[in-house]
Amino acid sequence: MEKILAIDGGPKAVTEPNGDWWWKVGDLEKWFVNRVIDDFDNAYDELDKFEEEFRQLVGTRYALATCNGTAAIHSAVFAAGAREGMEVIVPSVTWHASITPILHCGATPVFCDVDPDTYCADPDDVRSRMTSRTCAIVVTHTYGNPADMDSFLDIVDGTDVTLIEDASHAHGAEWDRKQVGSIGDIGCFSLQGSKAVTGIEAGVATTDDPALYDRMLVLGQYGRIEKLAVTGEFAALRNMGLGVKYRANPMAVAMARGQLHRLAGLNSSRRRWFQRLDDALHEIPGVHSQAVYPKATRGGLILYAGTIDADVIGAPVPMVLKALAAEGVPTTPEITPYGYGAMHLEPLFNDFEFSGLGGPWADLPADTRRPMSPGSLPVSERIHRSRFWLTTPVDPSPEWIRQVAAAFAKVAAQGPRLSELAESKP
Ligand SMILES: Cc1ncc(COP(=O)(O)O)c(C=O)c1O
Repeated sequence: MEKILAIDGGPKAVTEPNGDWWWKVGDLEKWFVNRVIDDFDNAYDELDKFEEEFRQLVGTRYALATCNGTAAIHSAVFAAGAREGMEVIVPSVTWHASITPILHCGATPVFCDVDPDTYCADPDDVRSRMTSRTCAIVVTHTYGNPADMDSFLDIVDGTDVTLIEDASHAHGAEWDRKQVGSIGDIGCFSLQGSKAVTGIEAGVATTDDPALYDRMLVLGQYGRIEKLAVTGEFAALRNMGLGVKYRANPMAVAMARGQLHRLAGLNSSRRRWFQRLDDALHEIPGVHSQAVYPKATRGGLILYAGTIDADVIGAPVPMVLKALAAEGVPTTPEITPYGYGAMHLEPLFNDFEFSGLGGPWADLPADTRRPMSPGSLPVSERIHRSRFWLTTPVDPSPEWIRQVAAAFAKVAAQGPRLSELAESKP
């Protein structure tokens, strides 16, 4: 006999507590932050210390702290020479911050589709969108799952195209045993409050290339340029640089320094339970968890993600998600109504009118935005319509994992009833 769904008044499948959530902040972080306050006169030294530690973690020559991950991506795209007439290829399954800096530089975002199983940029689709005007490719390691970096290195090999890794979700992730953020030309990490390493608001860019490093420095690191510049190219601008202030708050990076001590442990426990849940969900028709390339090791693991096949289950995805939430699965069907799926259809990147605004927005050249119609990136759009996310605890018990998998199985087996419910209370 079928079990009664919780959404229908039956018992919840998930009763076990999930334990700590990922964003655990404790005495260690407080100790690091308090030291900055107590030694106020030397507060900015904290930036150098964090950068040295982050550089060592990722294995690059340089790391540059920023006030958030968006600023890191803006610095990277700017350093890649993005400007009017140039194109930057970017996936549609990502956060807006991988894309908007391209417009702020006056360049054209060229959206690419993603791999249907890993949700990371599809190398073949990227290759087909390369032109003589492509100056950069931004590749997102979606939810901490590394993109196919061998293929992207091949694509840029012998060109001047800058390969930027958006590793905002992927602290400590690896491709072929190399840390993400050290594989392309520039890596960008968010240290915002939901991330594996957080300062509540901060970011960091990594690179081996002194010229790219200096360009990022001159854009946004007023006050640090003379001390840190490597090439001397911008010496005439002294410490003013271009005057944008993307410098990080020392208290935020102090907190992130504390978090770096937790990263290895957090990543290993999270990898373990993600894999267990992957194995369990694999058995359930109509439920697909995000796949991982054989050379990839997940890190950061900001969200446990997958897709629901409505045709196989026989019920609309929103109803499946509601039923899962009712069972006690920590699904987050709508973190925001946009992002991670169909960014190419957002009005900002299509036909929204900017009249009255300043800067490049006032008068965007006609070719800066290339409106796309529904259906133009079929895989990204399908993921957008069918995704699920679980808010992710640190180290849940095997019983919690078993119960979450049982909740998926219970819901997936009752498509006809869910369809009826969807019709009666849409
Ligand atoms: C993929 C991706 N890139 C960039 C960012 C921007 O980071 P921040 O919020 O620190 O500016 C985020 C933030 O969540 C993100 O998810």
